[in-house]
Amino acid sequence: MKAAVISVRLAGNSMMKQSAGASRTAVNVALLRALHAEDGEPKIFNDYLAGKLVTPEERADFESIVVASLELFRSEADISSLTPVSRLRHSLNATTTQDLLITRARFTEDHLLKCVERGVSQYVILGAGLDTFALRRPDLQDRLTVFEVDHPATQESKRARLRAARLACPPNLHFLPADFERENVVEVLRRSPYRTDRAAFFSWSGVTYYLAAEIVFGVLRSIRGIAAPGSCVAFDYLDLDAFDPLKVSARIRVIMERVRQIGEPMITGFDPDRLPAKLAEVGFHVVEGLGPEEQRSRYFSGRRDGFTAPEHCHLVLAEAGHLRPSYCTDLPPSTPPPRGRSI
Ligand SMILES: C[S@@+](CC[C@H](N)C(=O)[O-])C[C@H]1O[C@@H](n2cnc3c(N)ncnc32)[C@H](O)[C@@H]1O
Repeated sequence: MKAAVISVRLAGNSMMKQSAGASRTAVNVALLRALHAEDGEPKIFNDYLAGKLVTPEERADFESIVVASLELFRSEADISSLTPVSRLRHSLNATTTQDLLITRARFTEDHLLKCVERGVSQYVILGAGLDTFALRRPDLQDRLTVFEVDHPATQESKRARLRAARLACPPNLHFLPADFERENVVEVLRRSPYRTDRAAFFSWSGVTYYLAAEIVFGVLRSIRGIAAPGSCVAFDYLDLDAFDPLKVSARIRVIMERVRQIGEPMITGFDPDRLPAKLAEVGFHVVEGLGPEEQRSRYFSGRRDGFTAPEHCHLVLAEAGHLRPSYCTDLPPSTPPPRGRSI
């Protein structure tokens, strides 16, 4: 089936051109998750294992780069008045997307757990990086099969890191090495214990920015082709203002420039008002979409540490199928109704 082919062969998209070594961005994500697990109070997402997967040298290098880039945002006088600890916190807030990584992980796992309660028994993490879900949730071993699909080099490095940290992989975790540039993810899943007759939850975090829009919808159409009823996908994306020089926030502008310089340009965003119709064309209906304001009130209200929701970044959960949404109506009565804007 042509529609079931995921081929992210993108001319000029180096995000997907990862043949030489393990993903640096995956290590950075783990570092930012680890830092939040250590110093974020209250914690929005507690990845208490992330810190075990990175080396002290990687951490020291990363922290010094982050702290140095605060100079782009603050005057020298401002910076010199900060203690080393608060300087790191200010730097993380001002110069990284730690807020986005943390909220998308929380959003994804909250929805995943609701889906598991409804009987979803498979979790497919596309571009998993150093994700630790399967290790953090041994209690779900008998109910949930986890598939981590990632570049072979990143996956090999992750397995070495797990061994070095003496973290044993649970039996419900399947590593599926795949280079998205060369391989069809649907075929990779078909060669694995993935069951097309069982509902699955797909997470696709931190990737859509780097792909052309037609590739993003091609991937979603492919996922739809192997998604049994009740399956869902969660992903994040940038809005169109992020690509407008007059509207983009200072921080996102700097981050976009930084990733462009390291050869991983962000090239695609979506209009939150038009996304539901586009998703419907590839067989998904939106269950919930959260823009920056909704993320702020759901995850960040009452904080005093300056940690707040990322500008221009949106989270979406969509369910396979065009029919009446079943996800919301199946939620237990105690669960508050989704409060996201209708995107
Ligand atoms: C920024 S990390 C995202 C990690 C995680 N999903 C998250 O939410 O933070 C990007 C991931 O995409 C993977 N990736 C990049 N190029 C790839 C390729 N050509 N084939 C497979 N995976 C690739 C990397 O190995 C890495 O794990």
